Amino acid sequence: MNIIPSVIGLGYVGLPIFLKLQKKFKTIGFDNNKSRILNLSKKIDSNKEFPKKKLSLLNGSYFTDQLSMLKKSNFYIVAVPTPVRKNNIPDLDNLKESCHLISKVLKKNDIVFFESTVYPGVTENFCAKLLEKKSNLKLDKDFFIGYSPERINPGDKNHSVDKIYKIISTNNPSVMGIAKKVYKIITKKLITTKNIKEAESAKVIENIQRDLNIGLMNEIYKVCYKSNIDFKNVIKLASSKWNFIKFNPGLVGGHCLPVDPYYYSTYAKKFGIKTDIILSGRKINNSMYKFMYNKLIKEIKKNKKISKNSKILILGLTYKKNVSDIRNSYALELFKLLKKKYKYLQVCDPLLTNKKIENIKILNDFSAIKYDLIINMVNHDLFKTKILNIKKNKKIHYLELF
Ligand SMILES: NC(=O)c1ccc[n+]([C@@H]2O[C@H](COP(=O)([O-])OP(=O)(O)OC[C@H]3O[C@@H](n4cnc5c(N)ncnc54)[C@H](O)[C@@H]3O)[C@@H](O)[C@H]2O)c1
Repeated sequence: MNIIPSVIGLGYVGLPIFLKLQKKFKTIGFDNNKSRILNLSKKIDSNKEFPKKKLSLLNGSYFTDQLSMLKKSNFYIVAVPTPVRKNNIPDLDNLKESCHLISKVLKKNDIVFFESTVYPGVTENFCAKLLEKKSNLKLDKDFFIGYSPERINPGDKNHSVDKIYKIISTNNPSVMGIAKKVYKIITKKLITTKNIKEAESAKVIENIQRDLNIGLMNEIYKVCYKSNIDFKNVIKLASSKWNFIKFNPGLVGGHCLPVDPYYYSTYAKKFGIKTDIILSGRKINNSMYKFMYNKLIKEIKKNKKISKNSKILILGLTYKKNVSDIRNSYALELFKLLKKKYKYLQVCDPLLTNKKIENIKILNDFSAIKYDLIINMVNHDLFKTKILNIKKNKKIHYLELF
């Protein structure tokens, strides 16, 4: 089989996959956001994960609406967003749209792999059913499916896709063989299962475990802070035990941790299971920014020179350091609370320039001496040198979140 992969959804997950695959295969990149495609064609990645040089294509091409191009593919990889709705119910609309799109071009023997994070059963019971219904082709006879969850960690150069294990799952042995040929271009570290639901489960529980562990640290952090015990020292001491696992407290945002527990709890509910523990992590992590707000206000008040009219600068607004992703950013929520209280509050986040965020003017750079107080909310590496200098300047009050 002459494999012609396509990647549908060229965001944080899809773009790196596309870039890797197109080095080996003639690969089609597809995204329904016209401006994303236009930018990528001009070698601009608004997510700032890839510099211009890495966006030079070898065998790949980008498209936004040419079905005739997508039709050439026989191995579709779907990496579209899977958020939750306002009531935390999984929103599968992007997946639905992608399935409708693929079903227009699906042919005999084509393979469709899903990478979007879902709860167990979505690939087989939702996506495959839609593909069958819309294409009039039969699953496991005319076309085949698989699931390969994504572990990409934007901003983390130590765990890039080529260095980490990637799960691939499909119930068909010959499809597994083809999938291995495709995915080995991305990483040599492949781990397989015949059971798609196992792979879907593994993905969500990885994130749930991390969410809960951070939630636990957040709760302990609150207790330490309120009772005037040094949290960092407590953790240092506890870490000396062989089986203590170190996690840091934090404002848990982004597209994965604040979303995936709700996907799994929706699934568990179908079996009459209430996921109290899983959702308890969300409860504390969702409210942590309010605690940090009160803590900040208390700390600011300790400095009598700082008033409501002081010049204050916030550093960083993204959901975590070194990424340009603002989805579910609690730094943004914290900023909004502070904005209500302080008249002269500015924000600098060089990773967010060119992105429009709720009418907030975001500075690309700053001159520290213009401010009375600087609050470092998201510690991007590119602030490093400036922060070292700020710390030396006795005239500027400097605060960090944790
Ligand atoms: N961002 C991460 O760190 C990360 C890590 C692991 C897994 N995931 C999962 O991967 C999936 C994708 O996340 P992401 O962060 O890459 O999202 P993203 O928003 O960065 O990118 C998704 C892209 O898909 C496009 N798109 C949306 N609907 C489409 C459609 N119907 N047809 C074609 N293109 C469409 C969007 O325009 C966008 O460019 C989600 O399920 C997410 O949970 C994300």
